[in-house]
Amino acid sequence: MTKVTFIEHDGKEHTIDVADGLTLMEAATKNMIPGIDADCGGACACATCMVFIPEEWTSKLAAKDDMEETMLDFCEHAAENSRLSCQIKVTPELEGIRVTMPENQH
Ligand code: FES
Repeated sequence: MTKVTFIEHDGKEHTIDVADGLTLMEAATKNMIPGIDADCGGACACATCMVFIPEEWTSKLAAKDDMEETMLDFCEHAAENSRLSCQIKVTPELEGIRVTMPENQH
């Protein structure tokens, strides 16, 4: 299990223990954390599971593939440090990661 903190746009924090191998999106939706819509169920086809990753964690994540890059282009709130949470598998290396959700997923 790996401890992950999801931070809502208003600053409300949700810290949960996540089974390794789940994606950040699956962890959030299973725990009913608000702010991750995940309309496509993790197929990298909706971009409604976007999160912001703090700089210190970006090097611990696998790089974005072309599909994720393309989908992020459709996100109104996307920034340099945006990732799709359905494309990030939780591993022990991510222990303590904190990710922030955008104001909305449109
Ligand atoms: Fe649809 Fe991540 S859940 S792109």
